[in-house]
Amino acid sequence: MAKKLWGGRFKKETDKEFFEFQKSIQYDYKLAEFDIAHSLIHTSALANAKIISGKEKSKLHKALKKIESDIKKGIYHYDAQAEDIHTDIQNKVQNLIGSLALKMHTLRSRNDQVAFDEKMYCHFNAGKIAQFLQDLILSVRLLKSKYKNVKIVGYTHTQRAQKVLFSDYLGAYECMFERDKKKIEAFVKGLDIHIGAGALAGSSIAGNYASAIKEYLKGKKGLKIQISVNTLDDVSSRDFIIDLLNILILIQLHLSRLAEDMILYSTKEFNFINLPEEFCTGSSLMPHKKNPDFLELVRGYTGRVYGNLSAILTMMKGLPLTYNRDMQLDKEPLFSSVEIVSSELKIMANLIKALELNMTAIEQALEDEELDAVEEAEEMVREHGISFSRAHEIVGKRIARKK
Ligand code: ARG
Repeated sequence: MAKKLWGGRFKKETDKEFFEFQKSIQYDYKLAEFDIAHSLIHTSALANAKIISGKEKSKLHKALKKIESDIKKGIYHYDAQAEDIHTDIQNKVQNLIGSLALKMHTLRSRNDQVAFDEKMYCHFNAGKIAQFLQDLILSVRLLKSKYKNVKIVGYTHTQRAQKVLFSDYLGAYECMFERDKKKIEAFVKGLDIHIGAGALAGSSIAGNYASAIKEYLKGKKGLKIQISVNTLDDVSSRDFIIDLLNILILIQLHLSRLAEDMILYSTKEFNFINLPEEFCTGSSLMPHKKNPDFLELVRGYTGRVYGNLSAILTMMKGLPLTYNRDMQLDKEPLFSSVEIVSSELKIMANLIKALELNMTAIEQALEDEELDAVEEAEEMVREHGISFSRAHEIVGKRIARKK
């Protein structure tokens, strides 16, 4: 068991199995860089309040920045024995500069840190997802222009309906991803990141945060960090996670429908598209197989992404104000949905870029004259001045006679 951030009032050692059970370091290490941001701002506020000296602040900042650079280089390793990321960072600072590290946690609480860290995580990852959506939209546009005037069979009820332009069919997905992008950009824009809530009742150095935040934000664009407005709300609300997961379930839904379309259209029965091999796998037994595994996994992960939202909604329901430990369980669903959707968007953009239409099968399918039934009825209306329902019946009967 590594050093803990609490323990003074306890006479007995924490039960080992319980300690393992309650630890969050194995997943909240993903918040490391954001926890450092909290510490940088907080220690500046402590210096502004003259609780630590300017020299002490510099020493702490130097140590924090060293850890930050290790994270960026990918050489930061968390101590699996630490309770959580907040403890681990403090212990690491202590390893670097000794007991001065213990001053870092003056007048702050992990309840504030965790909400701040998660909001920062959401800010940066939602921003990345907006970019991944943009890349996918560009791939879709590229494919649309490659097959600009190509017509395909359009379906309703998975039955042949009418001819449509392939670019319109793909354009439908473009519309969905554009809507998703708008929503996630609005989410990033509207996200206020608060600091200074303390455990729940704020902090006596709250007035010293303003210039500390300013100092931290120098040269950083698009980040909105403010002093906590309602400290109780800050430590007890996870609306921002629910909002983000709500957007992610729709992206996932759109990806899943696109995946299903491609699975279907790549079967020998349809054979309208050739899936790029780079995104397929084979069978260990059947030598001829080229399976659409990426697309199947996208479809399959939809359950996970929906479930993640449901897990957080259920966890938050009925929790008494303010912070409760239940809320630690918000992280895995959040990280899971962000990671799944991010990977899918990146891979999907590359798959779409490499997708090819099988023009022979498409043209063959277009020969089905039933696809012109609506136009035929319309023509009758125009030429003979009869009602559409009369024309509908005539064409319907003619088709029935052929069956
Ligand atoms: N690991 C905790 C979480 O993720 C951090 C906050 C702990 N706060 C506390 N009072 N025990 O929610």
